[in-house]
Amino acid sequence: MTRKILVTSALPYANGSIHLGHLVEYIQTDIWVRFQKMQGHQCHYVCADDTHGTPIMLRAQKEGIAPEQLIAKVWQEHYDDFAGFRIGFDNYYSTNTPETRHYADDIYLKLKQQGLIEVRAIEQYFDPVKEMFLPDRFIKGECPKCHAKDQYGDSCEACGAAYQPTDLIEPYSAVSGATPVRKSSDHYFFKLSDPRCRDFLKSWIAPPHVQFEAANKLNEWLEGGLSDWDISRDAPYFGFEIPDAPGKYYYVWLDAPIGYMGSFRNLCDKQGIDFDAYWDKLKAADAGTEVYHFIGKDILYFHALFWPAELQHAGYRTPSGVFAHGFLTVDGQKMSKSRGTFITAASYLKHLNPEHLRYYFAAKLNASMEDLDLNLDDFTARVNSDLIGKFVNIASRAAGFITKRFGGKLADGIANQALLDELQQAAAGIAGLYDAREYGKALREVMRLADLANQYVDEHKPWELAKQEGQEAKLHEVCSVSLNLFRLLTLYLKPVLPKLAADVEAFLNVPPLQWNDAQTLLLGHAINPYAHLMTRIDPKQVEAMIEENKESLQPAAQAHSPARHAEHQQHQTQGASPHPNPLPEGEGASVGAIAPLVSIDDFSKIDLRIARIVNAEHVAGADKLLQLTLDIGEGKTRNVFAGIKSAYDPEQLKGRLTVMVANLAPRKMKFGLSEGMVLAASGESPGLFILSPDEGAQPGMRVK
Ligand code: MSP
Ligand code: ZN
Repeated sequence: MTRKILVTSALPYANGSIHLGHLVEYIQTDIWVRFQKMQGHQCHYVCADDTHGTPIMLRAQKEGIAPEQLIAKVWQEHYDDFAGFRIGFDNYYSTNTPETRHYADDIYLKLKQQGLIEVRAIEQYFDPVKEMFLPDRFIKGECPKCHAKDQYGDSCEACGAAYQPTDLIEPYSAVSGATPVRKSSDHYFFKLSDPRCRDFLKSWIAPPHVQFEAANKLNEWLEGGLSDWDISRDAPYFGFEIPDAPGKYYYVWLDAPIGYMGSFRNLCDKQGIDFDAYWDKLKAADAGTEVYHFIGKDILYFHALFWPAELQHAGYRTPSGVFAHGFLTVDGQKMSKSRGTFITAASYLKHLNPEHLRYYFAAKLNASMEDLDLNLDDFTARVNSDLIGKFVNIASRAAGFITKRFGGKLADGIANQALLDELQQAAAGIAGLYDAREYGKALREVMRLADLANQYVDEHKPWELAKQEGQEAKLHEVCSVSLNLFRLLTLYLKPVLPKLAADVEAFLNVPPLQWNDAQTLLLGHAINPYAHLMTRIDPKQVEAMIEENKESLQPAAQAHSPARHAEHQQHQTQGASPHPNPLPEGEGASVGAIAPLVSIDDFSKIDLRIARIVNAEHVAGADKLLQLTLDIGEGKTRNVFAGIKSAYDPEQLKGRLTVMVANLAPRKMKFGLSEGMVLAASGESPGLFILSPDEGAQPGMRVK
C-alpha cells in the first residue's frame, strides 16, 4: 500500500546561522524522507524559516534594514546551507507569507468561536524610551538571590536561580538602557486550561503520537496543570496583526507551526496536491494521510501540547507523530565558540564532505531523545574505516577487472549466490530499522554485511585469479558478485548518502535505486569504468575547520539552549513552566546598552589587580561555579567563586594570570566565602572569556 505522508522539520529562526546542532535534525528527517520515497511512498517534506518576533525586529533595526530584507537574506543563507548538506526539502518557505497568515487567522477565529480565546489585562515591563514591551530576555538587572549584576530577566547565569523579571533589582532595558516601567495591556490567551483541551490531550499524549519518554514528560506537565497561553504581543512587533485586534500581533510561536501548513499549501498549489486530504479532519481520515513532525526535545511543549490542542479545536487533523531528538555535543561538551566547536554549516562545507557528517550522525542516531556526541577523532576514524575502508573499497577492488578483462560487462549468471542471498534477505530488516528511526542499528547491520563482502573478496582474491591461466570465468564471477554486493550495500546506504549513491548509479549504469531493487541482481549488464568515489578524511581538515570557527566572529550564530525560547514562555498565568531551568546562553539580538556615565573618582574606587590563579577546582553541587585560589601578592591567597564553569576546564586555568576586583565586599555563598571577583567578558553570542594581562605583568599590580 502506498502511504501518503507529510513530514516537517522544525522551522529554524531567521536570526541565526545553521550550525551542526541544527543539522542533527535536518539530517535525521531527510534520511527518513529519502527512505520513505525509496519505498515508493508519496512523501512530502516541507520546512520554512521562522521569521517573526522581537529578536528579528531588533536585529533588523540594528542593521538598519527592514525585517523583510533581513529575513530574505537569511532565507538564502539557510537555503544554501541545507542544499549543501543535501537536505531534500520539497518546499523551503517562510512563515511571513500569505498562506501562513491565512491559516493563522483561520485557526485563531475558529478557536475564538469555540470560546477558547480570552482577553485579559496583564502587567509587564515596558521600555519608556523604545516604547515597547520587553520580553524577559531583554530585561537585565541584579540577581535577587546572589546579587550578580547584569542578569537576564528570567534566570541568573551566576547562581542559576530562576525568577520573574519583576524580581530583578535595578532592572534596565537591554535595548535602550532605560529603566523599565510596569504597564498594563490586554493580551489574548488560548485557554489551554479549558477541560476540553485537558481531556483531549490526556488521551492524545501516548505512543505512537509521541515517544514513550516524551509521554512521561508531557503527562507530568499535564498533571501539573496547564497554563493558558499568551498568544498576543503588542506593537511594535514583527508578525501578523490579529484580525479583530488592531495593534495586537500573534506571538511568533502561534504562527510558527502554522508555517508547516503554509509551506505545504504553497507546495500543493505548485504541484496540484490536495491540501485538505492532509489537513481537513474528516478528509484526512478518509484519505489515510499521515503527518509527522521532527523536532528537538526543547520544543516538545509547543508541538505536543499547544499545537495538537489548537488543531483539534479548530477542525484540523492532529499529527500522526511528533518525533523528538536530543541535543548535539561536540567532544562531550556543549558547542562553544571559544573552543571552536560552534561549527556553522557553511564552515563545515568549506572543509569537509557533507556525506561524512550525514553518515556519522546517522550512525549515532536512534529513536530516543538522548543527546548525541560528535567526537571529532571518532568521526574521522569511523568515516575512514567504514566508508572508505569497508565500503568504497569493495568497488575499487573489483571494477578494474570488469572493465579491462570483460569489456565492462558483468557475468550473465552466478553459480554461488549464497552471500548475495544473505544480503538481499537483509533488506526487510534494514527497512524496519530506518522506518523506526533506528539508524544506528541499521548502519551497524549494513557494516556487518560490508564485512562479509570484504571477506568474500579476500577469500577469492581476484588479483591472484587475474594472474592465473584458465581462471577467466572464476574471475568474472568473483568480480560480478563483488559488484552486486556493492550495489546492495549502496542501496541500503542511499537514504544516508544520496550523492554517493547517485555516483554509484552512474558507475553501475542503472536508474535511481529503489528499495525493492534489492530483490534483483545485475547480470549481463554493462557498467561504466570506475571513477573515484570518496576521499578519506585527513585530520588536518578537521583541525582547520575548528581553527576557522575559533577565529570567525559570527554575531548571528547562536549556540542552542532552551533559554532561546524563554521569550516564549512568559505570561503563563498558572501551572508549571515548560523549561524550569533555562540555561543562560543565546537569544542573540540583545547587546547591553552602555551604562550611565561615571566619574574617574567613581571608577578609581574599584581596585583591580593582576592575580595568579594558583588553583582551580570544580565545586560539588554547583552547576556554574569554579572555585579559584588567587594570589595577588598579599602573602596569602584569596578564595573566589567564579561563574565560569561552562567555559573553562579548571586544569587550563591553573597558573595563568588574570584580573580580579580586589576590594569587592566579601560575600558569603552557599559554598563558602567569596573574597573578590574575576572579570570575564560575555556578549550576545555564546561564550565567556576571562581576561589575561600582557606578558610581564606580575601578581598584585594594579590595573587602572
Ligand atoms: N523556530 C523554532 C522552531 C519552530 S517550529 C514550528 C526553533 N528554531 S531553532 O532554530 O532554534 O531550532 C530549530 C531546530 O533545531 C529545533 O528543533 C531545535 O531543537 C534544533 N536544534 C537546535 N540546536 C540543536 C542542537 N545543538 N542539537 C540538536 N538539535 C538542535 O526552535
Ligand atoms: Zn544569581
